[in-house]
Amino acid sequence: IKHIGVFTSGGDSPGMNAALYAITKTAEVNGINVSGFRKGYEGLIDGDLVQLKSHELQKLTQKGGTILKTARSKRFLELEGRKKALQTLNVNKIDALIAIGGDGTFKGLLAFSEICDIPFIGIPGTIDNDISGTDYTLGFDSAVNTAIESIDKIRDTAESHNRVFIVEVMGRDSGYIGIHSGLMVGADAILIPESDTDFINLLDKVKHYDSDDAFLIVVSEGDEIGAELVSSKIKEVNPNVDLRITKLGHVQRGGNPSALDRMLGIRLGVAAIDALLQGKNNVMVGILNNQLHLTPFEEVVKQHKINDELQDLLKLFSS
Ligand code: F6P
Repeated sequence: IKHIGVFTSGGDSPGMNAALYAITKTAEVNGINVSGFRKGYEGLIDGDLVQLKSHELQKLTQKGGTILKTARSKRFLELEGRKKALQTLNVNKIDALIAIGGDGTFKGLLAFSEICDIPFIGIPGTIDNDISGTDYTLGFDSAVNTAIESIDKIRDTAESHNRVFIVEVMGRDSGYIGIHSGLMVGADAILIPESDTDFINLLDKVKHYDSDDAFLIVVSEGDEIGAELVSSKIKEVNPNVDLRITKLGHVQRGGNPSALDRMLGIRLGVAAIDALLQGKNNVMVGILNNQLHLTPFEEVVKQHKINDELQDLLKLFSS
């Protein structure tokens, strides 16, 4: 392997730049050139690439977002788009590809492998932490830290006014940010898609809440009930509450990566090159029980399960 391509795809997540640095550094040590494709699969299709040098990336490990930019490419879903991407790889003599993104990114690589026979390696990068084959995805820890910091601030104002606050956190289909941030801020209720909320219990609690303190509810955006419906149900059982909804939104995606995400980026970046050097193909590198782990793309699925221990915590602290 002489020349590899790398790109970030899907939603950006803190730690992606650290992974790019680690990939480039490890590649250079092994005499491999690295090209970065800009805007995910779009850059592959359009031949939009830049040379990556580790000395330039070194100081960017602390920066959130992705310096390569990212996109959710519709064109790559079509065979036409994938054929153009193949041309780009051939013209630039790329021997292998590393993609940082979510399960959709890896599905794209699997489809691409039907017409392209160079090795592909994936690195899980999404704040949602909803990918099997790894305990943590790049950006999750930073996003939870941002959520906690924001909800702590909301608590200050909630306590000052004796208000009910419903805080919606990110997680398109998953409640990982919700359960983690909810537990850590001492929420009175946490609503996530993976668990049937004891909504009766919540309404009972809020019915008897006599506005002498804050009442914090953390709701995952993927939860089927949703912030608005929770709000109207609460107002039905207790019309006197002073209630606000805050949606934290994309603030959770930005900001400097936490120590854990920088380290994860570095470990997974190095592991991706190692996997290529060992002749691996179509696998995602992840960390399970603090050990590096490879999972074939076919087995990487959206993870929806909250383990039993977390479920018990959820029950205990929502009671
Ligand atoms: O997958 C990461 C994520 O931030 C989800 O939590 C959220 O639902 C989605 O991306 C938002 O996507 P977009 O930035 O395209 O609106």
